[in-house]
Amino acid sequence: MSVKRTSIHGQWSSHWVFILAVTGSAVGLGNIWRFPYMVGESGGGAFVLLYVICVLLMGIPIMMAEILLGRRGRQSPVNTMRVLAEEEGLSRHWQLLGLMGMIAGFLILSYYSVIAGWTLAYIFRTGAGVFEGASADTTIKIFNELVSDPEKLLAWHTVFIVMCTVVVSRGVKSGLEQAVCYLMPALFALLLIMVGYAMSTDKFVEGLVYLFVPDFEKLAGNFREVFLNASGHAFFSLSLGMGAIMIYGSYLPDRASIFGTTMIIATADTVVALLASIAIFPIVFTYGLEPASGPSLIFITLPIAFGQMPGGAFFGTLFFFLVMIAAWTSGISLLEPAVTWLVENKGLTRIKATTVSGLVVWLLGICTILSFNHWAFSFNFFGLTKENGLFDIFDIITANFMLPIGGMLMAIFVGWRMARQSSRDELKVNEKIYRIWWFTIRYIAPAGVLLICLQAVGVL
Ligand code: PFF
Repeated sequence: MSVKRTSIHGQWSSHWVFILAVTGSAVGLGNIWRFPYMVGESGGGAFVLLYVICVLLMGIPIMMAEILLGRRGRQSPVNTMRVLAEEEGLSRHWQLLGLMGMIAGFLILSYYSVIAGWTLAYIFRTGAGVFEGASADTTIKIFNELVSDPEKLLAWHTVFIVMCTVVVSRGVKSGLEQAVCYLMPALFALLLIMVGYAMSTDKFVEGLVYLFVPDFEKLAGNFREVFLNASGHAFFSLSLGMGAIMIYGSYLPDRASIFGTTMIIATADTVVALLASIAIFPIVFTYGLEPASGPSLIFITLPIAFGQMPGGAFFGTLFFFLVMIAAWTSGISLLEPAVTWLVENKGLTRIKATTVSGLVVWLLGICTILSFNHWAFSFNFFGLTKENGLFDIFDIITANFMLPIGGMLMAIFVGWRMARQSSRDELKVNEKIYRIWWFTIRYIAPAGVLLICLQAVGVL
């Protein structure tokens, strides 16, 4: 039997604010920074194809499940899982799912913030006209100078963490609404301008072919890692599996349609990632850059474009500013589950809870900062050489394992453990859509994640 609850942390003023907030969480560095470099490392079109399949078969159904759990529980992910499990007569241990999400959130934000710091630094570099007429060698040199200076990185990382804690401590509603409402469309427009520039290069078609024509021969040799990366990125990009969407769902008004919202968010997220890649790869090929250059990819390619195009300093500054805003609205959602838990269970005020969480993340971030200089070490991950030690380890553990496993457990909870009537009540979709969703959440999504994890650890 369901009990109608209200969240002690408030509610979105409308269904649209929820869409904006979740889009703000989903669209971030994952789309503009991580997606293109994953595509580059995984050899192009095959990754894009597998990514889209993962979004359709796992991302969308799990996002619906995560929102419905949040709205039904209306508390921090840990408490939501405990309460819903008790309501369904299940073990309280389901709350560990919320705990794992909180840990994943800390780990992700700790490195996310360092990368967001790079975008902050690039706002000023582009604004100062540093990239005017720059060659690939120059942009690479400027990037290397930045990441080899831990003090600079620490300063920018600190600024970003403070930005996130300020918003979260005031409650996600104030401030976030405007940021997403105006700045996300502006980011979209700027990406179109970048695509316009890419169209003017000789290698535009080559870039499109690379992105959209899968090379199955290449895929045959490394299917395992491409699949692992594509599925991990689908969870990362849609912010799934760690409770960020669950906590945002807990502020959702009762009548809003979960299905409609999910479709809008997933589409917006995918389109932004594709636009960013369409802008980047023609530049990569035009200037003879290495598609597999990893996390530095957008920071060495796009500045070349800004250095060549008319008004480049202006557009470049605006671009990195908007990427920073996109990162900010995602960073906030990474912190929110832990903060709500500290408020609910430890009786802290929102401000104290945010300060404590921010501090933990800030400290953890130092590992990432040092991964690009003093503590850099390389290791082999499925034949790919990863060069940035702890940063890569945090990224792989969270995106490739913790988020997909979190998402799989949510799918199992909703599909196998929760009464069917409960999910039907919450989703309120027509029977045909419900049945498709039910089948996917019960069989396809959990089996997909399980398959990927077993493959990853070498069992299959
Ligand atoms: N989805 C964000 C991005 O693509 O940048 C990153 C992220 C936010 C991942 C929130 C996970 C999360 F819970």
